[in-house]
Amino acid sequence: MTAVLRRAPRGRMSFRHQAKTNLGDPITMHFRNAFLLVLMLAAPLSALAKSSWIPSPPARDIEARLAQLQADANAMRAAVEAGRRAAFFCVNCHGREGVSSLDNIPNLAGQNAFYLLTQIDKYGDGRRKDDFMSGLVKVLEPEDRFNIAVFYANQPVPPAPVRDARQVAAGARHYDRACKGCHGPRGHGSREVARLAGQREGYLIAALKHYRDGTGVRNDARMAGVAKRLTDAEIAALASYLTTLP
Ligand code: HEC
Ligand code: HEC
Repeated sequence: MTAVLRRAPRGRMSFRHQAKTNLGDPITMHFRNAFLLVLMLAAPLSALAKSSWIPSPPARDIEARLAQLQADANAMRAAVEAGRRAAFFCVNCHGREGVSSLDNIPNLAGQNAFYLLTQIDKYGDGRRKDDFMSGLVKVLEPEDRFNIAVFYANQPVPPAPVRDARQVAAGARHYDRACKGCHGPRGHGSREVARLAGQREGYLIAALKHYRDGTGVRNDARMAGVAKRLTDAEIAALASYLTTLP
């Protein structure tokens, strides 16, 4: 589901639902900016007044808190529920439980909590760039960001069905050669290394090209080094393999 902002007669704004669209096209950019506008209007004035970025606590504090939650089922449940509430707006694009229905919007379900939080922080302080996400995360408090990451990390992500067995097999070979060392034998990643298993195919392709092409949209020295050796065909094969991994 996506929506497009329409200017109705007499200057009123309204949302119109549209079955399929591409987030890169101008209409959808309007839609994303409109979402941001709606959010800004809905945000309490106090949030607007301090719309500057508040950094998350140091990594070791985050890790200590995550470890604490792992050891305390009640505290974990409370964080997941707080995260579910704080993510009320994210569901519009990332799906109700973090499983996106659009190929170019990433699944957040099953993603590693530390990685998710790192990415939110990267949008917030400019190390990662996306017209919409970079603005959106600035209205979240550090506590909300933490709980949102915990909520999504605890949702299941369904793998996509195999469509082209040959391409999937080629992707598996590239993966074992070049990626397994960091992302793990089943693509589950760890800590700050992203989970790739079950991720949306189109999003994986776009992410790998962002690293490879060095446009400044995504900045990570390790991934840039790996991605610059990949051809478009290898990227396509890798994505079609990874999206099918449970
Ligand atoms: C209008 C649609 C939209 C909404 C609403 C939205 N997102 Fe996103 N989100 C995207 C798109 C598109 C991307 C991929 C952008 C890119 O390539 O960097 C993304 C990327 C992300 C990522 C990076 C995932 C990864 O695998 O690296 C995180 C984390 C994220 N969003 C969190 C959130 C949170 C939290 C909210 C709610 C506060 C939210 N998003 C709301 C569209 C949206
Ligand atoms: C040296 C370790 C390392 C190797 C090898 C590596 N990666 Fe990564 N990868 C990372 C790290 C760390 C990140 C998170 C980077 C960031 O913050 O942007 C990442 C992020 C990604 C992402 C972004 C995921 C998302 O949700 O946005 C994709 C896609 C990816 N890697 C694919 C691959 C593929 C495919 C290979 C093999 C060709 C590979 N990686 C090899 C460390 C590695």
